[in-house]
Amino acid sequence: MKFSTIAIHAGQEPDPTTGAVTVPIYQTSTYAQEGLGKHKGFEYARTQNPTRMALERNLAALEGGKAGYCFASGMAAINATMTLLAAGDHVVVSDNTYGGTFRLFDKVLKNFGLEFSYVDTRYPQRIEAAVRPETRMVFVETPTNPVMSLTDIRAVAAITRPRSIRLVVDNTFMSPYFQRPLELGADIVVHSTTKYLNGHSDSVGGAVILNDDEDIRKLAFIQNSAGAILSPMDSWLVMRGTKTLSVRMRQHDENGRRVAQFLFEHPRVKEVYYPGLKSHPQHDLASRQMSGFGAMISFETGSLARAAQVLASVRLCTTGESLGGVETLISHPATMTHASVPEQERNRLGITDGLVRISVGIEDADDIIADLDQALAKMGE
Ligand SMILES: Cc1ncc(COP(=O)(O)O)c(C=O)c1O
Repeated sequence: MKFSTIAIHAGQEPDPTTGAVTVPIYQTSTYAQEGLGKHKGFEYARTQNPTRMALERNLAALEGGKAGYCFASGMAAINATMTLLAAGDHVVVSDNTYGGTFRLFDKVLKNFGLEFSYVDTRYPQRIEAAVRPETRMVFVETPTNPVMSLTDIRAVAAITRPRSIRLVVDNTFMSPYFQRPLELGADIVVHSTTKYLNGHSDSVGGAVILNDDEDIRKLAFIQNSAGAILSPMDSWLVMRGTKTLSVRMRQHDENGRRVAQFLFEHPRVKEVYYPGLKSHPQHDLASRQMSGFGAMISFETGSLARAAQVLASVRLCTTGESLGGVETLISHPATMTHASVPEQERNRLGITDGLVRISVGIEDADDIIADLDQALAKMGE
């Protein structure tokens, strides 16, 4: 079956008790057992919940993986993935991930004996050079947040596969609709479902999708042992979101291209980071690796004051962190999402004080552009 059909039907059989076409929110902590050791496969809701399991099957099908597990946030999903590793293991990481991912690795997991090397994964040969005998994982985010650098997943898999190193891809920005890491050779996909998968800015969650039987067994064990599960209500919200993922992503992409072109042609905008623009240095890879370019755009205003002016002047676009919702969100990475990245490192990565990021929503593109136009007009010279 094709993507849109899978999105609506995978994991979503009518409820066996009532025939309800929408999987109910099983808001329960436990399940009645008929006798000692006699139950319907559900014992305790941290371990099994039908609503969460329906979403997990749905997401596994959408990413083309064997199994999926949902967590209380994207960070909880990433943290669970990292606990597949053990003290002494080494991880090669994109040097430009979401700031929270860097913070988890650098401020928390490092203290438990995991070692991290941060490299510019735009260049697969730098990953190869960073690999050590104890390397057990390569973790990439592509495109990266917020400067939209890409990593060639197929090229990296050619390095990791022969060495039995897990390749993990954070697919939050593109969603499985536009990018299919497992088909390109990755072993594990992680998501902040908070973003496009949910799509309506009303739930925080995360997911891990995998293929390897041993890792599936381990991750199920970790999910139950550490317990950072997604609630039934949030599972239901994300499931409602994935039903419209195809139509939303198509509209996000159409609006994203139009807003990026508008910014690119705007005389006061210094630089636009969007993989769909021919000026993007990795436009060819983007066209090969993704089936759309999405709706995440960053642009350079030139200074903190100018960026602040834009954020203060928008009326339709909402100033706020996060992304991937139906509404357009605008943010300032240096002081918001990436404040935990040291200033020197931010500057090296291009996360300057003048950088503004937009998550283009699915309002009418004319209205989004008109709003940005009036805000840019107020920006000082
Ligand atoms: C690419 C990416 N990965 C992971 C996360 C973390 O997800 P969450 O906020 O759901 O914990 C984010 C959050 O912004 C993100 O942008």
